[in-house]
Amino acid sequence: MSAQAGGYEAQPHPFNGGGECRSILSGSAGYSASLQNEAPAEKMVIDGGYPLTGEVEIGGGKNPALAVVAASLLCDETCVIENLPYVEDVRVMIELLESLGVKTERSGRTLAVDARSISGCAPPYELARKLRASSYLIGALLGKLGRAQVPYPGGCNIGKRGLDQHLKGMRALGARVDEAGDMIIARSARKLAGADIYMDKITVGGTINVLIAACRAQGLTVISNAAKEPHIVEVANFLNSMGARIKGAGTDVIRVQGVERLHETSYAIIPDQIETGTMMIAAAATRGDVTIRGCIPTHMEALTAKLLEAGVRVDDRDDVIRVRSNGAHRAIAIKTQVYPGFPTDLQQPMCSLLATARGTSTVTESIFDDRFRHLPELARMGARVRLNGSDAYIEGIPHLYGAAVTATDLRAGAAMVVAGLMAHGVTEIAEPHYIDRGYELITDKLNSLGARVRRVTEVADDSL
Ligand code: EPU
Repeated sequence: MSAQAGGYEAQPHPFNGGGECRSILSGSAGYSASLQNEAPAEKMVIDGGYPLTGEVEIGGGKNPALAVVAASLLCDETCVIENLPYVEDVRVMIELLESLGVKTERSGRTLAVDARSISGCAPPYELARKLRASSYLIGALLGKLGRAQVPYPGGCNIGKRGLDQHLKGMRALGARVDEAGDMIIARSARKLAGADIYMDKITVGGTINVLIAACRAQGLTVISNAAKEPHIVEVANFLNSMGARIKGAGTDVIRVQGVERLHETSYAIIPDQIETGTMMIAAAATRGDVTIRGCIPTHMEALTAKLLEAGVRVDDRDDVIRVRSNGAHRAIAIKTQVYPGFPTDLQQPMCSLLATARGTSTVTESIFDDRFRHLPELARMGARVRLNGSDAYIEGIPHLYGAAVTATDLRAGAAMVVAGLMAHGVTEIAEPHYIDRGYELITDKLNSLGARVRRVTEVADDSL
């Protein structure tokens, strides 16, 4: 196989062959795996070294959209969802609804959902497995029909992703939940009944799932130790816009008074927190000057604080953030935490920026147990990285160098994009479909800021 784009020369930093990196590199599938792949493969190719400058508009949030689309099942009339992002995961969620007999109509960024025609409670196995957020169908279907049959979901390769708190919540609401192989079968002979539910672990998905189901339960549900991420507030606002009675979303105690019916609504999805953050990081990492429009600066406070600490200039006003950087960055320490702490979804792209900061940065991942698969890929580009359990140490070097790397998951893909934009030379990112799961029109957006990014499809080359 050869890449149509051709013509790159990877220039690994001498440290790449060194002791500290070796163990990291050995854990990586890397480029060679994609060479053995028979099917024509797509790549994202980046000519690095151009500072990002200009203005960019942020799209609707992927994670909020996934929760809202799943929750739209509960509506007893038609609900209209606006500002829906064009990303693969959202497309799959819509297909999941359709597979259950729900009528959907999409026009541009607007989706109309009519769940009155729902005819099934078991989405197709392979489709549901594609998406972690398919687990929201457990809460939505239990609330709507009193039964759900959903497989343990797939999603990105970032470590164990339990559902115990989701299922604990459903059981507390009165559902019987059985696990048969990797299938979850939940049913409730009677209407779900409100309950006090203490989450043993702060979980975004678990909080959303229980919130969705509790809307249609009889009486009051109190969710304690709830997650506070922006998409928790978003799904609560969406459900309330249909007549649900949810209070306290965004705090760690959420109260849900169940209602009989949910009426029609028209609701616009909030801007994507992680796309905003990725653009902020890319602007800073390329020593650029980017004005990001249509975002929510208060959602970005943890990232902004860390960028400021690293020596980046960040100004915000209303729904605009401007990020400027023209010098070397300082090494910093980052620890991922639940909101309003530093988001795990931005840990990976931030590692790319820190690869060229002055000094040694420490990055601690405390949400997922295997969210460092981007490090071996960064090492291919010359980064000096070392992993010790959940702590990564990144010793800054002057430059990254273009190389053949792999997007091992969605945000690892974003890390590769940021690194490719920063690097000297050409970076080829294999498996860019991971990036498509969560970033809308990323190639166009980056190119409009002066980047040189293209997608190429490999063609068979028999002479190899
Ligand atoms: N966990 C449990 N038991 C549960 C639920 C979660 O042990 O019942 C654990 C998980 O194994 C994980 C941790 O708790 O270690 C956090 O999981 P959480 O439920 O909070 O995350 P999630 O709902 O699976 C969502 C986002 C992720 C984002 C995390 C954290 C969606 C669809 N996904 O995942 O987004 O990283 O919250 O903020 O909203 C991404 O967009 O790239 C992405 C992975």
